[in-house]
Amino acid sequence: MKNIFKSAVALLSVLVAFTSCNNTSQSNSGALSSSAAEKVYVAPGEHDEFYAFISGGFSGQLAVYGLPSGRLFKVIPVFSQDAEKAYGYNEETKPMLNTSFGFIPWDDAHHPDISQTNGELDGRYVYINGNNTPRIAKIDLTTFETTEIIEIPNSAGNHSSSYVTDNTEYVVAGTRFSIPIPQKDMPIKEYKGNFKGTLSFLKVNQEDGIMDLKFQVLMPGFDYDKAHPGRGKSHGWFFFTTYNTEEASTLLEVNASQNDKDFIAAVNWKKIEAYVNNGGGKKMATNYAHNIYDEHTHSATSTMKKEVLVVDPSEVPGAIYFLPTPKSPHGCDVDPTGEYIVGSGKLSANVTVHSFTKMLDAIENKKFAGDAYGIPILNFEDVLAGSVEQPGLGPLHTEFDNEGNAYTSFFISSEIVKWKLGTWEVLDRKPSYYSIGHLMIPGGNSRKPFGKYVVGMNKITKDRYLPTGPEVTQSAQLYDISGDKMELLLDFPTVGEPHYAAGIPADLIKPHSKKLYKLEDNKHPYAALSEADTKVVRDGKTVHIYMTTIRSHFSPDNIEGVRVGDKVYFHVTNLEQDYDVPHGVSIIGANTSELLIMPGQTETFVWEPKQVGVWPFYCTDFCSALHQEMQGYIRVSAANAKTPLKWSLGEDIE
Ligand code: CUA
Repeated sequence: MKNIFKSAVALLSVLVAFTSCNNTSQSNSGALSSSAAEKVYVAPGEHDEFYAFISGGFSGQLAVYGLPSGRLFKVIPVFSQDAEKAYGYNEETKPMLNTSFGFIPWDDAHHPDISQTNGELDGRYVYINGNNTPRIAKIDLTTFETTEIIEIPNSAGNHSSSYVTDNTEYVVAGTRFSIPIPQKDMPIKEYKGNFKGTLSFLKVNQEDGIMDLKFQVLMPGFDYDKAHPGRGKSHGWFFFTTYNTEEASTLLEVNASQNDKDFIAAVNWKKIEAYVNNGGGKKMATNYAHNIYDEHTHSATSTMKKEVLVVDPSEVPGAIYFLPTPKSPHGCDVDPTGEYIVGSGKLSANVTVHSFTKMLDAIENKKFAGDAYGIPILNFEDVLAGSVEQPGLGPLHTEFDNEGNAYTSFFISSEIVKWKLGTWEVLDRKPSYYSIGHLMIPGGNSRKPFGKYVVGMNKITKDRYLPTGPEVTQSAQLYDISGDKMELLLDFPTVGEPHYAAGIPADLIKPHSKKLYKLEDNKHPYAALSEADTKVVRDGKTVHIYMTTIRSHFSPDNIEGVRVGDKVYFHVTNLEQDYDVPHGVSIIGANTSELLIMPGQTETFVWEPKQVGVWPFYCTDFCSALHQEMQGYIRVSAANAKTPLKWSLGEDIE
């Protein structure tokens, strides 16, 4: 008893000491001011002000968060299979992951960009690149589903992608690695002068948003790292940072850091487009997949394309120039006016800013400092608008607010630095925890940023969260930028690597968000649009089940006459026409995922029964009070059995 009392007193005194300590040192109790919690608090039932689409990097996905709360709403599978949603598992979406290399259910998803009209976010689509097996995907922001993936031929490490022009005329993709084009067996040491990089321009059909690879520009064998379109006054141009202008193929950490300056490539795509529209360019044989999901058939188709139009810059004089930019520039960011092109040299002490006006002037006066493979190089001093002197270490990316300020992430010094466009003075700096890569201001890549918040995306979190073994969560950080000084408000964990993000006011998306698929619009070839249409059809060893769901049963729910060795297709139509009433379905031993079927939608999975027996299937999504009753049985007979094919609901199979 005595000991317990003593311990209690000791504990109390410790608590008192902590409390009094807190009382006297409130001002330095961490990075947060007392109002931070209030600023990110979204009350139960209330909605966030912004959507943030944060890429999952090596997860191949795109996650949807709310800002300022940092709450996760949905993970959209793009270049990945997702067992939760059956994407990449069901028969309808498998073709989305088709490529010239076959079915590739993974990629490295980096840079989301939201479609624009007149240089402002319009909230129709978000595009994102797959780096590894070069692809660009489109996500429809009425359904939040991946509805198109186009493979990029003649490309490797599709990194300077995917960015849209002012009116979403084009989605642009650039190659990181240069390669032999067309691919061939050749010695690696013959890289220099022989390997090439491509910049791909995907024309967007304004009616349905479908992309078409209109042309590729065949560039010198540099690494094309990041890109952004011109906007406003520079609309019609596109800018790409390059590194490895040394054209090294080994030990790049040394060999690609030799040149004092690499380049930003300025590409007049309108000029090249006009050239192509007049019959310019050469058709090159190639092979790439174009996969489109149709909302009416609820199914994707994959088409292999066999040729691509390639443009040699020497055929279009005046279309491409190189702007010398110090030390392996990474980020290539254009301010909302379109005047300033910011190139962040990873190894440079300063952030370099080029002037679009000065660039045009230098071009007009033919002030060239030479050429690289026939592409004119402008003089650094002639195009320089200014530089931010020694703002931090390891500058990467820059975003902009609507008041003429820029925000640059610094990887090595782990901070965000705010500076002024035009005067180049540093206004503020805040640490990031830790090693920030990209940062994002909603609309920060458009003519109309919404400069209320910046989201930092960090590569390392170390001690910021509860540990979860060797792999700890990655995270984003939210800063308030509405005042003169930035204020850190919130850390929030992210799914996968938060590589980059696109943010948009919720009001630009929310009113258009789809609630259900209308049954009368369902054109799926295996849909059963009522219980009367349900049936089971045998075709040799293939069995098609036309099944429906409605709270709280399947139709049919008893099936006999299936045999071991059959290939059984469950085509399940969800007859519900209410918002937020999906049903799921799965069966024992299915070598795939469950299905999660939205109201009015049809989805299919394949089951190959291996064993004789009577096997249950059930609804996997908690749909009603009688969800647990939503089940059925399939009788599987031996391969040579004569059990007749029968199905029923609400009565015994005779
Ligand atoms: Cu239908 Cu649970």
